[in-house]
Amino acid sequence: MNQHLKTAVIIPAAGSGERLGAHLPKALVQVVGRTLIEHTVARLSPIAAHIIIAAPAGYEDQFRTLFGQSVTVVTGGSTRTQSVKAALAALAPEVEYVLVHDAARAFATADLAERVLAQLVGGDLAVIPGLAVTDTIKEINSENRVVATPDRAQLVAVQTPQGFARQTILDAHASGADATDDAALVEKLGIAVRVIPGEESAFKVTHVADLDRAMRLLAESSTADIRVGLGTDAHAFSADSSRPMWLAGLLWPDEVGVDGHSDGDVAAHAICDALFAATGMGDLGSNFGTSDPKYAGASGATLLHETLNRITAAGFSIMNVSVQIVGNKPKIGPRRIEAINALSASLDGASVSVTATTTDGLGFTGEGKGISAVATALVVRR
Ligand code: CTP
Ligand code: MG
Repeated sequence: MNQHLKTAVIIPAAGSGERLGAHLPKALVQVVGRTLIEHTVARLSPIAAHIIIAAPAGYEDQFRTLFGQSVTVVTGGSTRTQSVKAALAALAPEVEYVLVHDAARAFATADLAERVLAQLVGGDLAVIPGLAVTDTIKEINSENRVVATPDRAQLVAVQTPQGFARQTILDAHASGADATDDAALVEKLGIAVRVIPGEESAFKVTHVADLDRAMRLLAESSTADIRVGLGTDAHAFSADSSRPMWLAGLLWPDEVGVDGHSDGDVAAHAICDALFAATGMGDLGSNFGTSDPKYAGASGATLLHETLNRITAAGFSIMNVSVQIVGNKPKIGPRRIEAINALSASLDGASVSVTATTTDGLGFTGEGKGISAVATALVVRR
């Protein structure tokens, strides 16, 4: 049987969320259009065939409506431990691994859960994620007097999901003791609890400021790391009438080309600059050197492809590229599709658009002295 079918996630979600101060139980509070419990379930459902939610008494149907048949909803208890215990009573017989995960840690990733699970499959009986603490922790007494200062290097702040072998978690809860996490009950049985690295995103939504943190986290992941860049290039038409005209990756046989170090393809060069600008990797000159003989006479297509290789190696992908050619000639319209295809082919099929304009007789382009191009590129960091 595959591991997914043998795994259950128990989600204690029966707290009232007093510190958050909402009018609803905390698990039903929305962040960016979804309740916390929906965020939690969406992240962890890929790893477990069984999901059991302990809901606040009176809200069970509201939870059932959210998830339908895909989850089991039980009535939670008056403490977190009681809520977990109620959910354990609903474990299916085939479940071997149990992950207990706070509804309030709605942004813990499936990757973290997978790492917990992998340790259980490897034979550990109890596995919990933990992060090093950055503050010094003091133990105090009821009069607010410090009793002890434990060595910070020996402390971790623990999170959920906490993973257990089925019998281990059942035995731990059979004692009837109460604790703020399940591992504490397992420790009392004298069973070793392994700590693995936790993650920042597994923070617990506790106070209102944590909702802001959650919103920022969701905004970051939905807009990813997208960056825009701008590039321009210009060249004078050559006095040498035998100079070939290369533009937008195409040869224009009826036109005289431009002077320049390379083939003078202003559209291709503007796109290269836009891509380097978007990725913060310098520009055409700093990458290919106007004095570097290796690129003397290099085609626009070659430079585009080499630019793509460099930004790809740095971890970026192109979302789209747009270039506008400015000049009296050549007329781009009749060959626009060809130009798009040529530029796109040099960028391994990236989305490219090509537009063109004249400048109403103004400036060096309007006077027919040369040609220029301006490009933008949108890239995303993978
Ligand atoms: N929990 C539960 N049953 C309880 C109390 C808490 O299932 N009787 C759950 C909460 O829903 C939460 C997790 O345990 O997912 C961690 O608890 P906490 O963050 O303290 O949530 P609340 O108890 O709801 O918040 P507060 O302490 O501010 O009231
Ligand atoms: Mg609480």
